[in-house]
Amino acid sequence: MTTMIIGAGLVGSQIAHILVERGERPVLMDFSPQPDALAEIVDLSRTTLIEGDVLKPFTISQALLQHGVTSIVHTAANPLLTLGAQRDPWSAIQLNIVGTVNVLEAARVHGVKRVVVSSSNVLNHFLAGGEGKGNSADEEAYPRPTTFYSATKQTIESIGLNYARWCNVDFAAMRYGAVFGPWSGRGGGGPSNIVRGALEVALSGDEAAVPSNSMEWVYSKDAAMGTVLALDAKDLGSRVFNITMGCVVGPEEFAAALSASIPGAKMRRGTPAASAVSMPDMQCVSDLTRARTILGYSPRFGMTEAMRDMANWLRSRASAR
Ligand SMILES: NC(=O)c1ccc[n+]([C@@H]2O[C@H](COP(=O)([O-])OP(=O)(O)OC[C@H]3O[C@@H](n4cnc5c(N)ncnc54)[C@H](O)[C@@H]3O)[C@@H](O)[C@H]2O)c1
Repeated sequence: MTTMIIGAGLVGSQIAHILVERGERPVLMDFSPQPDALAEIVDLSRTTLIEGDVLKPFTISQALLQHGVTSIVHTAANPLLTLGAQRDPWSAIQLNIVGTVNVLEAARVHGVKRVVVSSSNVLNHFLAGGEGKGNSADEEAYPRPTTFYSATKQTIESIGLNYARWCNVDFAAMRYGAVFGPWSGRGGGGPSNIVRGALEVALSGDEAAVPSNSMEWVYSKDAAMGTVLALDAKDLGSRVFNITMGCVVGPEEFAAALSASIPGAKMRRGTPAASAVSMPDMQCVSDLTRARTILGYSPRFGMTEAMRDMANWLRSRASAR
C-alpha cells in the first residue's frame, strides 16, 4: 500500500510525517520541493521525494505506475490561496481545478483505491445569496462562493463527487479551517502566515499583530490527522468533511492563546490590509459531527495548545541554529 502526497508543503509534510511514523513509505510529489523545510518535519530518508507538476497528467501517471501508488492525497494549491487567487485568478483556476481533474482522471484510469483532496472551510464562510432557500426552481436556490479561491474549491468538490458517482473513484474532500503549524518553507495561506508571523514577532520581543476578525482555525497536525483518517476509513459514506478546531477564535481568544504560549508577549490589534480579503469575520462554527462519526476525527489542538506547540517548535529551531 503506497500513498502519494501531491503538494509537499504545510499540510502535506505533516501527512507524510504521520504515514512515516506508522511504517509507510509515502511518495511526496511537488513541482518545487523544499527539502530543507520538509526535513524539519519528516524523515525524508523514509519517503520517496519526487519533482512533478500536477498540471502535467503524464507525470502523475508515470509516478503512479513507477511507485505502485494505491491512494492519493492531493494538497497542491495556488500560492497564497485566497490572496493569490484574487491577484491571479487564471493561474489559480488552472492549478486548483485542472490540477484536481488531472489527479482524478489519473486515479480513474489507473484504478487508484482512494483520492483525498484538500478543500476548505472558505465554502462555509465566503458565500452570498441563496435567497431561493434550496428551491431548485429558483435561480438563486443556493449561496455562491464570493472569491475565486472558494469558487475553485466548490468546483473540485462537485467534480470529485461526480467521479465518485460515475467513475468508481473513491473520493473525499477535507474542508480544513485556516491552517497554521510548524513549517519554515514557502506556502500556506494569508492567515497561516499571520499566525506564524505573530509567534515569531512575539518571540523576538516585538509587538505581534492580533487579527481583529474571528476565524475558524485548524492546527496542521490535526488537518493531517483528519486526512489520514479519511485515507483509512473503510466506508466514507459521505464524502465532504469539515476538519477544524470546532470553534471560532475571536481577537480575545487569539491574544489569550498567544500570551499562554509566550508569557509577556507584546501585542497590538490589527489585520494587515493586504490580508483582509482572506480573513472575513467568521461567525458560524463548522459542524464536526460527520467527521467525528464517520472518520473518528476529534481535534487534539485548540488555539492555546496549537500556539504553544508551534512556539516550542520555533524555540527549538532557533536554539538548533
Ligand atoms: N493553509 C491554509 O490555511 C488552508 C486552509 C484550508 C485549505 N487549505 C488547502 O489545503 C491544501 C494544502 O495547503 P498548504 O497550506 O499545505 O499549502 P502549501 O502552499 O504549503 O503547499 C502546497 C504545495 O503545493 C505545491 N504545488 C504548487 N503547485 C504545484 C504543481 N503544479 N504541481 C505540484 N505541486 C505544486 C507547492 O510547491 C507547495 O509545496 C491546499 O489545497 C489548500 O487550498 C489550506
